[in-house]
Amino acid sequence: MTYFSDKVAVVTGAGSGIGRALTVQLAGQGCHVAISDINEDNLAETVALIPQSDRVTAKTNTLDVSDRKQFSKYALEVIEEFGRVDVVINNAGISGRDVTMDEFDYADYERVLNVNLWGVIHGSHEFLPHLIANPGSHLVNVSSIFGLVAPPMAGAYCASKFAVRGYTEALRTELRDRGVHVTCVHPGVIATNIAVAAGLDEETVNAFSTKGLTPEKAARVILKGVQKGKARVLVTGGAYLLDFLQRLMPGGYRSLMLPIIGIKSNKLK
Ligand SMILES: NC(=O)c1ccc[n+]([C@@H]2O[C@H](COP(=O)([O-])OP(=O)(O)OC[C@H]3O[C@@H](n4cnc5c(N)ncnc54)[C@H](O)[C@@H]3O)[C@@H](O)[C@H]2O)c1
Repeated sequence: MTYFSDKVAVVTGAGSGIGRALTVQLAGQGCHVAISDINEDNLAETVALIPQSDRVTAKTNTLDVSDRKQFSKYALEVIEEFGRVDVVINNAGISGRDVTMDEFDYADYERVLNVNLWGVIHGSHEFLPHLIANPGSHLVNVSSIFGLVAPPMAGAYCASKFAVRGYTEALRTELRDRGVHVTCVHPGVIATNIAVAAGLDEETVNAFSTKGLTPEKAARVILKGVQKGKARVLVTGGAYLLDFLQRLMPGGYRSLMLPIIGIKSNKLK
């Protein structure tokens, strides 16, 4: 028996990266999983990686987290099938374009905010009554280290991830005495498909794959934090370092941050 045995966990964006690793590890610990992704083929690949066991049920759905009606219908289906939910992990997310904000258009903001912020709000809001009805349950929202520090060329992404953090911390404050543990996750660089999916340049894609922590290690850190009911889970040493810098110099961390995240100031001219 492990902490997650026989629990029911919802994971969005389970077709790749961190969501896939979370799914495989949860199911490996005997947790029933309701997994979804906008990409049906990738989700099928995740299902094939779930350890075969008749102890574990896996419900799979194609779901666009930014679509409120779809999410609402999906949440009802999950409750109908499992009767309850113990862990909701709002993980699905995308990166924005790697340009300064004068080059952004409104469509850039809408695309990123619709998935990263509205996806998290939909997933939290739709499952909230079911989490409150099940004391000891967990709500886990994935922000980013860029929900704690704001680098250049990530304006829409930062807006979405700082908002996820504010929303999640507000939920934690409200739900503290109502039996729901709320965790906000702030990963540093993780070697997933996020940069490829956003069509970022080769240098950035390579940096993710060579310098990033594996999604499996990230998932282990996240699940340990969830199990402990932590308010905040930082993933990677870089995330701890950047968090420390912004606490030390909330208004002046820029010059120390840029070399850590590998942005040369000439890229900003
Ligand atoms: N990889 C990193 O370095 C990193 C760092 C900080 C935070 N994060 C966050 O971690 C989370 C997981 O990202 P990842 O790195 O595993 O990326 P990934 O690209 O490997 O996986 C993201 C998954 O979300 C899915 N997705 C995208 N749009 C969707 C939508 N509208 N509806 C449903 N699913 C959708 C994708 O199809 C994909 O399977 C994201 O919220 C991301 O912002 C990642």
